[in-house]
Amino acid sequence: MPSLAKRESYFLSILLDMSVQPISGQTQVVGIFGDPIAHTRSPAMQNAAFRARGLPYVYVPFLVRPVDLAKAVHSIRALNLSGVNVTVPHKERIVQYLDVLSAEAELCGAVNTIVNRDGTLFGDNTDGRGFLVSLQERSLSPRRQEVVLIGAGGATRSVLVSLIRAGSARITIANRTLSKAQALVRVYSSLCKTRLEALPLEVLQDPALFKSAALVVNCTSVGLHGEEFPPLAYTATPRRCLFYDLLYRPGLTFFLQQARKARRPIVDGRRMLLHQGALAFSLWTREPAPIEVMARALARALRH
Ligand code: ATR
Repeated sequence: MPSLAKRESYFLSILLDMSVQPISGQTQVVGIFGDPIAHTRSPAMQNAAFRARGLPYVYVPFLVRPVDLAKAVHSIRALNLSGVNVTVPHKERIVQYLDVLSAEAELCGAVNTIVNRDGTLFGDNTDGRGFLVSLQERSLSPRRQEVVLIGAGGATRSVLVSLIRAGSARITIANRTLSKAQALVRVYSSLCKTRLEALPLEVLQDPALFKSAALVVNCTSVGLHGEEFPPLAYTATPRRCLFYDLLYRPGLTFFLQQARKARRPIVDGRRMLLHQGALAFSLWTREPAPIEVMARALARALRH
């Protein structure tokens, strides 16, 4: 049983997380562009962080229809927003409207964070870096390691770029539509020393694929609604192989359930969501992010 003082300080910290930041003439506005946007948990996470740091920022959701994307980007300058996050379906198409891109954004061909520097719009992509931080938390360095990525969409691309930049030795991309995995391999093979290979989804049943794997990542949408994952040789992996699902939902996905049954370490997409947000926070404010506050606010928002 925690002491009374401990419990009091816990509840006080929750109240502080949920308190309202006063809005004044000095308030700086950041937010998120997406369609749909009603489900986003980023406002809860970012506003809690601004309050905890006592920073005069407010984070708001913007429903931006694809047809209005160019106008929405111009409005960042016109309204002097400090920056925005970008989510589905705009991450790729928004690139063309920005002034400067980070190396990661350029390599991914996608942006999830924009910083407005006196009217110059800087596009970055913190998804892959957020993913790497979440691996660090689990004491996993992907350098010189073998990785299996499942999927070949936008999420795969961010993770793939981050693993290549971190120096992974070999990455296998397994996807239902083989041609999409092959296209990724074609694009990135010429840019890196990492050995890349594209294979169909059926290969996940082959124990040989996992013999030296340090990390297996589900980058597909399979499991979001509780559905089963395609057959995979979970127990063929080394005992310390980390199973990572970029998805998050109440309860474990089928992929993570099976990995846990095989007694392998697991992690879900909440940690990546948290760390991509923390990195965006620091890009806008130039301050270190209050990770614990953000994690608590995110956990609370995900319960509702
Ligand atoms: P994101 O941007 O989140 O990566 P995406 O680009 O739509 O989303 O990619 C979704 C991924 O999930 C793809 O790899 C897709 O496989 P295909 O390339 O064959 O479409 C994968 N996916 C979705 N539903 C799937 C299913 N039922 N079985 C296997 N893979 C599936």
